[in-house]
Amino acid sequence: MKWSLIITGILVVAAPALAGDDHPAGIGRDQTLAARFKAKTIAELVARYDSESCIECHEEAHEQWSESAHSRSLFGTGRTALTFRTAILNGLMTWKASGVEELKDVRVEHLMGCAKCHLPQLADATDDVAREIVESIDAWRTAYLDEDDDKADELEETLLSLNINCLVCHNRNAITHKWTDGYPRTDTVYGLAGGDIAHEDETFSRKETSPIMGASIFCGQCHGEGPNFELENPTQCATAYGSYLFAYIPEGGHKTCQQCHMEESGLGHNMQSYRAKVMSDKAVAMEVTTQAVVWRDVSTMRPKATVEIDLTNQAGHGIPDG
Ligand code: HEC
Ligand code: HEC
Ligand code: HEC
Ligand code: HEC
Ligand code: HEC
Repeated sequence: MKWSLIITGILVVAAPALAGDDHPAGIGRDQTLAARFKAKTIAELVARYDSESCIECHEEAHEQWSESAHSRSLFGTGRTALTFRTAILNGLMTWKASGVEELKDVRVEHLMGCAKCHLPQLADATDDVAREIVESIDAWRTAYLDEDDDKADELEETLLSLNINCLVCHNRNAITHKWTDGYPRTDTVYGLAGGDIAHEDETFSRKETSPIMGASIFCGQCHGEGPNFELENPTQCATAYGSYLFAYIPEGGHKTCQQCHMEESGLGHNMQSYRAKVMSDKAVAMEVTTQAVVWRDVSTMRPKATVEIDLTNQAGHGIPDG
């Protein structure tokens, strides 16, 4: 009786304090790179996750990464950036309740339908950055069509500076269950192993174990399960992780994304698909059996052949994806 009275008292006192406080929940959240401040320009956002310092000691990882699609996750081959633009023109601008009438109306939340996976750190930026990205893509396209090579190259470089780099994977996205495992700290790189020990980088002077770095769920953060229902207007692009969970695993598959894409392929950080022979060679097993038969068609003997082809998908998910 007494206790419940005391608890009610505490709740009454605490309630007004909590009511006006829109600070997000989670102890340590305010000490992440993401929470430092909202980046107001592309340059500020790039600086936040600047991975230049990693190169000198991890040259091989860097070389491999720079060949991968992750190093150009917004620009892609040009097609990814242009598809962002199409999604705005043919999507957002035609949807009556999106609030987007012109390119300049685009805000972070509009772009998250793509950036959730192509540039997750956009969540740590202001709407100015969303606009700067959209305007840069548009200006790049115009310069490209006008054959203004210098301008196009300059804008391409800006768009390429936005990517999934060392710190996006080894810090920002290295922990999925943040209330269970804690928020990623600003001074720490997260790897497969290591525990809480010193790391030689000046700024990232600690090394900790990421509970998910070696597991498929790590890649699953961006490789999709299906429609992204948490968005105001769900999008769908990649679905490999869903296919992995609901088809490959139940069929008895037991390898992780990292095993096939980083380790057995020998490609390490240059995670690849059909663009690399070592992957496309493994994609489908083909077994062909042929047999000659003589077919008796009433009274006529006709030589025939039967060809039986078994195609088996050996990837850990449906192909092609998306
Ligand atoms: C001055 C050199 C130096 C710099 C700069 C540096 N590292 Fe390291 N890093 C090391 C050494 C040495 C190890 C330990 C080697 C080992 O045991 O694998 C290591 C280990 C790691 C590991 C493996 C952790 C594990 O146990 O799996 C990761 C991940 C890592 N570094 C990421 C980074 C990132 C990201 C940056 C840039 C922010 C960076 N490093 C900058 C020297 C450096
Ligand atoms: C759930 C995460 C996710 C979302 C959301 C997402 N993508 Fe993707 N996207 C990927 C991944 C991962 C790939 C790599 C190929 C694959 O698995 O299909 C990809 C591939 C692409 C490609 C093909 C690139 C190439 O050249 O092969 C384009 C273009 C693309 N995305 C554009 C978009 C646009 C535009 C949006 C928003 C409307 C979007 N994506 C939303 C994860 C996502
Ligand atoms: C797309 C996510 C991703 C990016 C980007 C990425 N890594 Fe990794 N990294 C991983 C994963 C996953 C592993 C664990 C690999 C495994 O399970 O075999 C790893 C392992 C490592 C390791 C320890 C194993 C080793 O190879 O020695 C180091 C060091 C490392 N990464 C450094 C870097 C550096 C430096 C960069 C930037 C140039 C980088 N990583 C970019 C996902 C990433
Ligand atoms: C932070 C989000 C993110 C994470 C984490 C991530 N990826 Fe990706 N990945 C992408 C995006 C986005 C693309 C497509 C970029 C583009 O081309 O437009 C991609 C492309 C790829 C491709 C090339 C696909 C193609 O069409 O050529 C492979 C393979 C791949 N990722 C494997 C992995 C694996 C394996 C892991 C885990 C070790 C992983 N990725 C982790 C976002 C991510
Ligand atoms: C058993 C090995 C294996 C596993 C496990 C596996 N993959 Fe793959 N993956 C492949 C192979 C082989 C290809 C090449 C397919 C091709 O050439 O079209 C591929 C292709 C891809 C592609 C490109 C799909 C496309 O449209 O071309 C992506 C993205 C990808 N994998 C991501 C992942 C992710 C993320 C995981 C974990 C959830 C994963 N893979 C697990 C073997 C594997």
